[in-house]
This record gives sequence, structure tokens and C-alpha cells, in this order.
Amino acid sequence: MKHWPYPRWVAHRGAGKLAPENTLAAFRLGAEHGYRMFECDAKLSADGVVFLMHDAELDRTTNGTGIGGDRPWGELARLDAGSWHSRAWAGEPLPTLENLARLCLGNGYHLNIEIKPTDVAIAQRTGEVVAREAARLWTGAAVPPLLTSFRPESLAGAKAVAPQLPRGLLLDSLWQGWLEMALQLDCVALVCSHALWDAATVAQAKSAGLRCLSYTVNDEWAAQRLWDLGTDAIITDRVDLFAPV
Ligand code: G3P
Ligand code: CA
Repeated sequence: MKHWPYPRWVAHRGAGKLAPENTLAAFRLGAEHGYRMFECDAKLSADGVVFLMHDAELDRTTNGTGIGGDRPWGELARLDAGSWHSRAWAGEPLPTLENLARLCLGNGYHLNIEIKPTDVAIAQRTGEVVAREAARLWTGAAVPPLLTSFRPESLAGAKAVAPQLPRGLLLDSLWQGWLEMALQLDCVALVCSHALWDAATVAQAKSAGLRCLSYTVNDEWAAQRLWDLGTDAIITDRVDLFAPV
């Protein structure tokens, strides 16, 4: 990817902790703070619908219990994904990827879809289904969504069904073979826990032609360090602190 079409600032899960994560209300609030790119977490319902939720379990961020991916979308769609956060968001539903795609495409927002399989056994299939759905939803769009995952199997699945969609490998540590894996998966970016970036890792990534992104950066000193290193984008919860210029 010679031309990098994405903004430098990305709002994590919509609006960080200011609204219930991964709900349309959160993405709208992030946009009100000036953000034009969002990160979200995508997984599969039992009947194969791509929906947005971070945890495998429903318990923390909805009024449901148990594994979200064990339930059909018809059940998930009736859950309250807002009350856990605060009364102001009571009744906010879980969105599908299609719901968020409509919001983004209708407003010219960019999206980073983190493929977040419920468990490793369905990592490849989750990558395939999410990528196929993203390719369908963004058909003809000027800028495609950036697909990322901690799971190489998910990125391999995405690459198999929609090789044209850009991919990024998420890293929470520099495990053996990270750079080779990113290249094998034809990634355009590495998205690292921000402390992993230093002059050496940035140079390694850049000389391999990869963009350098960071998550989740919530302090001004950390953001400044990353810009000074020459990294390309920052994912933040602090949409109220950082103005996305
Ligand atoms: O995609 C970056 C970041 O969201 C990865 O960590 O746990 O917040 O999904 P997590
Ligand atoms: Ca995420």
C-alpha cells in the first residue's frame, strides 16, 4: 500500500470509555469528537452473523450471560448493550458489522475491523466470514476497511476470501517470527501494543514496507514518543483528550 489512506488518529471501540464500547452510540460520539476512523471488534453469532463485541462472554457489556458466539443473532439483537455503562445508554443494542458499515459509508468514516474470534478453533472461519462480509459491504468504496487480528489464522482466512482488503497483524509481544508472519500474510501494517515500538522495531517494519500503528495510547507522553519515532497511526480511548488533526 504505497498511499496510506487512513487518518493518524483512530477511536478505540468507538469512543473509548465515554460510551458503551462497540455500539453505534459510541461511534457517533467518537465522530462528534472529530474522529474519522474507528476501531471495532468483530465476531460471529451462532448462525454466522458478524456482530460487534469485544469479549467472548456477554456478561460484561450486555445484560446477557454466556458465550455470545453460541447464540443466534435473533437472540443477540434483543440484548441491552448500553445499561452496563450508564443509564444514559440504556437499551443500546449490539450492532452488526452491516449497521456500522452503513454509518461509516454514509459519513465518509474509515474503519479498522479487528477480527476477534470467540476461540481459536473458529479463527480461520471467522476471518473468512468477516472479510467476505466486509468486501460485500464496502464494494465500490473509495477506501476499504483495514482488517486486523492477533490471530494469524484469521488473517489467513481473510486473505483467502478477500485478498484485496488490507490486513494488519496485531501484536501484544514480539513473538518469534512476527515479521515473517506479517509478510507471509501480505499485511500492509503492524498494529503493536505501543511499548513494543522503538527505533529498531520501527526500522525493521518500515524497511519491510509495513506501516506502524499502535494501540491503546491514552497518555500525551506516549503519543508524542510514537510520533517522534515516525509511526503512522494511534488507536486511543481518549477521544476527549486528543484532537484528531
Ligand atoms: O485493535 C487494537 C486493540 O483494540 C487490541 O486490543 O483487547 O482492546 O481488542 P483489545
Ligand atoms: Ca480491539
